[in-house]
Amino acid sequence: MTRTIQAIEPHTARPCGLEQARVIRRRLLAWYDKHRRELPWRAGPGKPPNPYHVLVSEAMLQQTQVATVLAYFLRFIEAFPTVRDLADAQEQAVLRQWQGLGYYRRARNLHAAARAIIAEHGGRVPDNVPDLLNLPGVGRYTAGAIASIAFGRPAPILDGNVARVFSRLFLIDQPIDTPQTRKTLWGLAQELVPTRRPGDFNQAVMELGALVCKKANPSCENCPLARECSALAVDRVSQVPVPARHKAPLAVHHHILAIERNGRFLFEQRPADGLWSNMWQLPTAEDLTIKATASSLTAWIESRFGLLARKAAQTGSFKHQTTHRTIRFHLWHASIKSGRLRPRSGVWRRLDHLDDLPLPNPQHKAVAMIKDR
Ligand code: ADE
Repeated sequence: MTRTIQAIEPHTARPCGLEQARVIRRRLLAWYDKHRRELPWRAGPGKPPNPYHVLVSEAMLQQTQVATVLAYFLRFIEAFPTVRDLADAQEQAVLRQWQGLGYYRRARNLHAAARAIIAEHGGRVPDNVPDLLNLPGVGRYTAGAIASIAFGRPAPILDGNVARVFSRLFLIDQPIDTPQTRKTLWGLAQELVPTRRPGDFNQAVMELGALVCKKANPSCENCPLARECSALAVDRVSQVPVPARHKAPLAVHHHILAIERNGRFLFEQRPADGLWSNMWQLPTAEDLTIKATASSLTAWIESRFGLLARKAAQTGSFKHQTTHRTIRFHLWHASIKSGRLRPRSGVWRRLDHLDDLPLPNPQHKAVAMIKDR
């Protein structure tokens, strides 16, 4: 039997027929029942999961893989067992639990969402998409995930894994991030999500994307949807999805100063907005040109902290990639000659007494480099 395979044009209105949708749902759910991973936020088969656990796991799983999230999730739930415990916690305590996961705005939003759930929803996670969308940090994906997984609502989801599975299944060969492609993919997700077991279906698509329909080296021979897959039928799995065209990240230089006095080092708190907001760090001069000199940095220390430093010496450097920036961190050492720390500009800490200060990952790295010297 031959099949004519056509790439879906983003303006196609109904790319998936009813019968095909039924086959896809049936195969996918049967596969999920056999291959689903036991994850701490997933209830056993047929059991309803704890909505607060789903909320926390979905916040953590944005931008982060399941394997990394596991340990963080367990520690987080131990520290904040209920939505009220989280709402009552200090922001710094929440950030400490999040330390290392990155994208700290997710932690702040989750904290604010817990407070909103207590203040506006009687302590219960909302069970529908419109109310979920009103919570801080909850977008269309997260609202759909919580509504379907925790409450059995037939709400669609679209994340990176789902987008890859559907682009291959329906051969969507347009760049993945255009508004038209996103619209087509959301339309497919909406059409396919069943009224029976919508949460399992959504998790099955994500699971298939993570375990089988992988970005590199997908194992099509083990795929329950191989027979339905348009990209596989025309041997174009490796070309789909078509990657987004990203702007090149901006290259910047940050200079970290290890400023020492009597065995203690100076730490400052970052501003309340922007990258790594409210977290702590060794004093860091940001976005300078590579040409920062020892004397410009000692002048910077004096103007910022009121401390006179001996000449700073560069002791190392490393690279750190964020979504929009390639940051080269340069580590400098300086010791203090004289002066008194300007009030509220920083704190002196021994490097083995940092547990209560949430530090971004590159700052942990700098601290480790100082300890190694
Ligand atoms: N990624 C985001 N949410 C997920 C979930 N519930 N299961 C598997 N992968 C996920």
